[in-house]
Amino acid sequence: MSRGLWITFEGGDGSGKTTQAELLRAALEGAGHSVVRTREPGGTEVGQRIRDIVLHSRGSLTPRAEALLFAADRSHHVETLVEPALARGETVIQDRYLDSSVAYQGAARSLGADEVRELSLWATGGALPDVTVLLDIDPRIARARLDAADKPFDRMEAEKAEFHARVRDAFLALAAAEPGRFLVVDATLPVDEIAGEILARVSSVGGRL
Ligand code: TYD
Repeated sequence: MSRGLWITFEGGDGSGKTTQAELLRAALEGAGHSVVRTREPGGTEVGQRIRDIVLHSRGSLTPRAEALLFAADRSHHVETLVEPALARGETVIQDRYLDSSVAYQGAARSLGADEVRELSLWATGGALPDVTVLLDIDPRIARARLDAADKPFDRMEAEKAEFHARVRDAFLALAAAEPGRFLVVDATLPVDEIAGEILARVSSVGGRL
């Protein structure tokens, strides 16, 4: 049995990752593929508890503690859920992975992109996705979408505009450094146009699909 394809979605808060990940799942399942949908933080039971701490704890949490918690979630998630699914030949479609840590903790929280990337690579034994879709959007437009959704903000969403601008710049730099893995899509395009671009890229690398 050949190894499955691993696709991650990245982007700022309010960029539409979840919508696009669901559309891709529907398209691939419609074509007869077996798909596992998951996310970080919180793709496992342990991860759910970590998600609650990093996104919803009240008081302060040091930036390094935050980075370690995301890395702990990632380590457990990859070893117990992602790798076994890929080994079974299934396609994994995942909201967020280590690029989020590099952008949020490494760049926006100023811990250092290289250090944070190394931490995640250590946590996961160096696992990297086959395709990473970056939904790029001006954080001011994304913020208007989040405001319209009228849900309480988590710890990251509550950060100021400058923080989210740093996240965006970091994601774009990551995509420029690894054009083979990343597909950058303008997240303000119509939903079905974005979905079409993503499916085209996934199909082109999906010899294993
Ligand atoms: P997400 O699940 O996309 O939020 P929601 O389901 O509310 O749309 O992401 C949760 C937040 O966690 C998001 O603001 C980004 C942040 N995050 C990091 O800061 N570092 C990480 O490594 C990951 C995976 C997420």
